[in-house]
Amino acid sequence: MLATLDPQTKAFRDDVLAGLSAPIPAIPARWLYDLRGSELFDEITRLPSYYPTRTETALLDGIMPEVAARIPKGAAVVEFGAGSATKTPLLLDAIGPSAYVPVDISGDYLEQSAADLQERLPWLRVLPVVADFARPFSLPPELAELPKLGFFPGSTIGNFVPRSATDLLRQFRSLLGPRSQLLIGMDRVKPVKRLLAAYDEPEGITAEFNLNLLTRINRELDGDIPVDAFRHEARWNDILSRIEMHLVATRDVEFSVSGKRFSFAAGSSIHTENSHKYGHRGGRVLLLAGGWTPISEWSDADEDFAEILAVAEPERFAP
Ligand code: AVI
Repeated sequence: MLATLDPQTKAFRDDVLAGLSAPIPAIPARWLYDLRGSELFDEITRLPSYYPTRTETALLDGIMPEVAARIPKGAAVVEFGAGSATKTPLLLDAIGPSAYVPVDISGDYLEQSAADLQERLPWLRVLPVVADFARPFSLPPELAELPKLGFFPGSTIGNFVPRSATDLLRQFRSLLGPRSQLLIGMDRVKPVKRLLAAYDEPEGITAEFNLNLLTRINRELDGDIPVDAFRHEARWNDILSRIEMHLVATRDVEFSVSGKRFSFAAGSSIHTENSHKYGHRGGRVLLLAGGWTPISEWSDADEDFAEILAVAEPERFAP
């Protein structure tokens, strides 16, 4: 059985078996995104209570002339993720880059979205790279001499715990090099009621997105988890400034995954996602810890979401 698993399924199985056996059961959030999970996330971005996507898109639209004025001519844009059909063209239209490099682990999805973008912006040199952007990889050699702008929208940085977020920002810095720039979206801290409403809405799409993880485990890892014995829960963790998604057992339950038995008591939970929210200072300090010096920051009128432009200053002695 072991030898027949492809590397992706093996990594999934290892994370799930280790996560379900941990003292505080947790499964890394990246496994939420199988095909169905990605479709459900897409639906989430259009929900009335899920403000981040709408707010960031409008914000980007409004600030683009100011952003463009700060980007060197002929820069190459490296987007961490396959790119959004709405946000990415706003940036590319405004700055007219010499190349656009979307980086994503899902080759099929990346190819399709890069082809769609190429059709929409025929003048653009699109150079997709299939890679896990959280791990070291190389950029196309054509970019070697070009100024570079990293683009990391969507508050995806919030899905990393601060220690991993810092590692990720450092990885971006070493990939893009000194003097490069980074345009990053961060979701702001706001009243808990609004945050909880964005992650547990009456339409139940976020619940379906969360529970789909169990369906995926059953399908891909030979599991027999009774999905109806779990419910979605969104929690605000004030000390850690984050929304957490959990799958809570509604009754005592036993199941197996890849031949391993597990039991969960009613009320116990599997932690499936963190979504950190940053205040003005917290967001900037995170960037500094990751090797990026903020130079401009924009927010919508309600201060719901922030876009920060930062630069990788060359190393220098600090007091
Ligand atoms: C992708 N990421 C920024 C989303 C978020 O808000 O943390 C994922 C999500 N989870 C539940 N709703 C949306």
